[in-house]
Amino acid sequence: VDLTSLNTLNIQSIAEYFYEVYDVSQLIEALSFARANNLGVQILGGGSNVILPSVVSGVVIRMAIAGRELKPINSSIADFIVGAGEDWHEFVLYTLQQGYPGLENLSLIPGTVGAAPVQNIGAYGVEVKDMLTEVTVIDVESDGLEQYTLQNEQLDFEYRNSLLKKNPGKYVITSATFRLDKHAPLKTTYGDIAERLVDTEISALTVSNAVIAARKSKLPDVLDIPNAGSFFKNPIVSHDKLQQLKIKHPKVISYKVDESSYKLAAGWLIQEAGWKGYRNEKVGVHAKQALVLVNHNHGVSEDILGLAKKISVSVESMFGVALEIEPVVI
Ligand code: EPU
Repeated sequence: VDLTSLNTLNIQSIAEYFYEVYDVSQLIEALSFARANNLGVQILGGGSNVILPSVVSGVVIRMAIAGRELKPINSSIADFIVGAGEDWHEFVLYTLQQGYPGLENLSLIPGTVGAAPVQNIGAYGVEVKDMLTEVTVIDVESDGLEQYTLQNEQLDFEYRNSLLKKNPGKYVITSATFRLDKHAPLKTTYGDIAERLVDTEISALTVSNAVIAARKSKLPDVLDIPNAGSFFKNPIVSHDKLQQLKIKHPKVISYKVDESSYKLAAGWLIQEAGWKGYRNEKVGVHAKQALVLVNHNHGVSEDILGLAKKISVSVESMFGVALEIEPVVI
């Protein structure tokens, strides 16, 4: 099966074996086939955070388990239990329609609900770990291939990382549960969101609209220019390293993580190293957001990763900061 249209970087790729699964029993069937034939398994959600090789050996399983259940806990709090194959942004809009704020800052993030906890998606001061209570998973290596639950505390969440991402190929998420509160405060102070809300009545819906507008203004639409969102994580450095950087680069952009560590804006580092808007015959760096690599003309994994490598080398030599790739390389 051709996976080119199933990954947002539009990398030409073929799956040796392919299953699309709509419920847990179909998933178990696909996993059993892989096991019986000694084949590896790759789970594909929205394909918005993967770099695919030209051939994916083994079994690719496209997660399409649907379902949205709203379970009130009391008059103000509810649990949303959601199938892993649901579209993330549609789910966010659904929670807002039901009158539950909490996920509005994560509007318009591409991908599926099942992929969201894997890299702990985040934007505008909110991360998925803040509202996620548990996920149901199947451990691909387990004997009975039975579903079980992992609680938030067990998922080892970090910035763009989790237990699930640290053990590639081990867990398949089948559903995720989010606890939302009708009266939760809105987070409106982050970056350009505040500016976009001036003269606007502030509600979860208007915050969501501001986030959508902010993202549309700098992130390329995958339908126009194939991409995988932020290609690098924002690197975390010590207080001393930041002070040292500021001597030579007084404009360096940083955010405090805690007393001793700071996050640097990787987009700014890449821009200062001269890469913003760069392009070769196949791939390039987005002109409005240097953190995003784009596939202009049938680039493959090697083209994208080759450019990423050149960018990291030049950022490292200019700032002494190592960049880490965000998407999963298969
Ligand atoms: N900047 C530049 N030049 C650039 C890009 C950014 O100077 O080319 C500066 C911006 O002006 C800003 C700072 O760097 O002062 C940060 O940029 P921005 O607010 O665009 O956010 P980001 O750090 O580039 C992160 C997330 C995004 C998320 C936004 C908003 C990561 C790796 N990325 O980007 O997530 O939407 O914050 O919260 O943490 C994603 O993961 O795919 C993603 C898009």
